[in-house]
Amino acid sequence: MKIPVAKPHVGYYEKKFSKDAIDNGWISSNGKYIEKFEQQLKKKLKAKNCVVCSNGTVALVMALQALGIGRGDEVLVPDVSFTATINSVINVGAKPVISEIDKETWCIDPKKIVNKITKKTKAIICVHLYGNPCEMEELIKIKKKYNLFLIEDAAESFGSKFKKKFTSTIGDIGCISFFGNKTISTGEGGCCVTNNKKFYKKLLLIRNNGIDKKKRYFSHFPGLNFKMTNVQAAIGFAQIKKLNQFIKKRKLIEKKYDEKLIEFNNIFRQKIQLEHKKVEWLYTLVIENCNINKLIKYLEKNNIETRRIFYPFHQMPIYKKYVPKKFDKKNSNYIFDNGISLPTFYDLKEVEIKKIINKIILFQKKAIHSN
Ligand SMILES: Cc1ncc(COP(=O)(O)O)c(C=O)c1O
Repeated sequence: MKIPVAKPHVGYYEKKFSKDAIDNGWISSNGKYIEKFEQQLKKKLKAKNCVVCSNGTVALVMALQALGIGRGDEVLVPDVSFTATINSVINVGAKPVISEIDKETWCIDPKKIVNKITKKTKAIICVHLYGNPCEMEELIKIKKKYNLFLIEDAAESFGSKFKKKFTSTIGDIGCISFFGNKTISTGEGGCCVTNNKKFYKKLLLIRNNGIDKKKRYFSHFPGLNFKMTNVQAAIGFAQIKKLNQFIKKRKLIEKKYDEKLIEFNNIFRQKIQLEHKKVEWLYTLVIENCNINKLIKYLEKNNIETRRIFYPFHQMPIYKKYVPKKFDKKNSNYIFDNGISLPTFYDLKEVEIKKIINKIILFQKKAIHSN
């Protein structure tokens, strides 16, 4: 049996609640679970408002639209992320400006942002990559000084904290993904988080074709249908109740991998500040002096699925025009060339973790001998 890199956990309550939604006929976006899930999300994140939607990509589009970002505006994005981060900017008609990442945190480097700010810059999207919180204090300082909006792409960081605050609750709007490989999942799904009432009201309109509850079929904004279904929310409602359990398991997986792997002097992890709390999304390593593609193939042969780090945006031809003239590719190329994500999911067994570790160590030893 192959060990996948990620897999959602679907238990008794996920089935019970989604069956309840189906049995009662509430399979579209009306129904009690939407409200229940949003309430739970608010409570867990200690946030004022949560607006669930169809997926994390759409959450980013909704956030940009709620902040009034569109044609003629520029938005700073990190060089390394899933393509939804940059595609959302392009899809609202704005221009993404790609910014360098930090070699150690792998997140957007605040020091490299300032020289890219122009009169057209409206926002920064910071990405808490693999669950690791960005340098939020530095980013907030820049946001205030240059009067910018700050969107947190917290697609991969549900449950992570910067100091005492949950990621997604620190900037103007935070965007979460509930895709099947995330800490909690609704199959497909997403959420916008904001403590700002004005943005919250706008998000509600954007999600529902510009229509509010007061006047049916009367549109106030050319929004689209970005709603989550009641069946998805029922699954989310079951999952969020198990959040602590999920986080605990992810911590355990991280500990087990760390114990055996980081003692090698060519293996490095993302720098995680002790004052923050990182919920491991996908356990990801940088292995220097190792042919990553060969390692991936070797693990694949041994029925272990892994993943490379996301392609840096600057490497993809469609995004070349968004790379500033003076741009340092060094850090993103370094993590891309040397990075690998290992299986990380709730139902991963201890024997499977051992097998993965052993195979990596064996590969390392073979590589040393053949050099
Ligand atoms: C950093 C980042 N942003 C946005 C998204 C988009 O989320 P979704 O797949 O739910 O559309 C993802 C996807 O997983 C992601 O990793």
